[in-house]
Amino acid sequence: MSKLEKVIETRNLNSGYGKLQILFDINIELRKGELVTIIGPNGSGKSTLIKTIIGLVKPWEGDVIINDTYNVAGLKPFEIVDNGIPVNYVPQVANVFPTLTVLENLKLGALPRSDSTKEDIQNDLTKIYELFPRLEERLSQRAALLSGGERQMLALGRALMSRPEILILDEPTAALAPVLADEIFAKIIELRDMGISILLVEQRATRALKISDRGYVLVSGHLAFQGKASELIGNKKVGELYLGKRKSV
Ligand SMILES: Nc1ncnc2c1ncn2[C@@H]1O[C@H](COP(=O)(O)OP(=O)(O)O)[C@@H](O)[C@H]1O
Ligand SMILES: [Mg+2]
Repeated sequence: MSKLEKVIETRNLNSGYGKLQILFDINIELRKGELVTIIGPNGSGKSTLIKTIIGLVKPWEGDVIINDTYNVAGLKPFEIVDNGIPVNYVPQVANVFPTLTVLENLKLGALPRSDSTKEDIQNDLTKIYELFPRLEERLSQRAALLSGGERQMLALGRALMSRPEILILDEPTAALAPVLADEIFAKIIELRDMGISILLVEQRATRALKISDRGYVLVSGHLAFQGKASELIGNKKVGELYLGKRKSV
C-alpha cells in the first residue's frame, strides 16, 4: 500500500502577533482522508496555528506544505485560493454573512470555483440540502436569524460549496448546546466519510478525540502531546490535565 499523502504538513512553524511569539516549532501533519483534532486550553494558540496555516497570520519561520507540493507559508488566503489549492477554512467566529440569505451565503461559497456551471452549482446545493435539510427550509432567511446550530451548518455548507479536499474547522461546536454539538460532530464524520481530510480544533476535547484518527495537544504554543486519538484519551496525564478526568489517587 502506498504511503498516505500528507495534505497538510507544518515544519518548525513559529508565529505570533507583533513581537509576541505565540507558536513555537510546531510540526503537525494531516494525511489524506484523516480527521485530526487539535485540543488545548483557551489561549494556547489553536486559532493562531490554523490562521498561520491558512495565511491570515504570517509565519515568522517554518513551512506549511499542502499536498506534499505547495509551500504556502507567507501566502495570503486569496493567493492560496487563486493557486487552486483546495483548502477551505471555517473560522471560529464570523463564519457567515449575517445580512445575506442562506442561499446567498451558500452560493458565495462556490466563488472560489472558476469552472462550475449553474448546473454544477445546483447539483452541489442539492447535496448540501441532503446533508443539512434545515438549511433548505430556510433558504430565503437572513443568516443573522439562524440559531447557533443552524449557523454552524450554514458555515459548513458554505465551505463545502467550494468542493474542498481539505477542511479546517475552528471550534465548530463552540457555544452550542450538547445535543446540537453532537449533531455537528455527526456531520463532521459524514464529511470525513465523503473523503474530505479534516483538521479540527475543539474545546470539547474528549468528544472530538472520539471521532478523530489522531490528535495534538497544544499548550502555551508548544505541542505537549500527540498520537492516536484513542491513545490520547487513554493517556492519564492528558486525561487529568485536558480532558476533565478526575485524578485517581
Ligand atoms: N490578533 C491578535 N493580536 C494579539 N494577540 C492575539 C491576537 N489573537 C490572539 N492573540 C493572543 O494569542 C494567544 C493565542 O490565542 P488563540 O490562538 O486565539 O488561542 P486559542 O484558539 O487556543 O484559544 C492568546 O494569548 C491571545 O490573546
Ligand atoms: Mg481559538
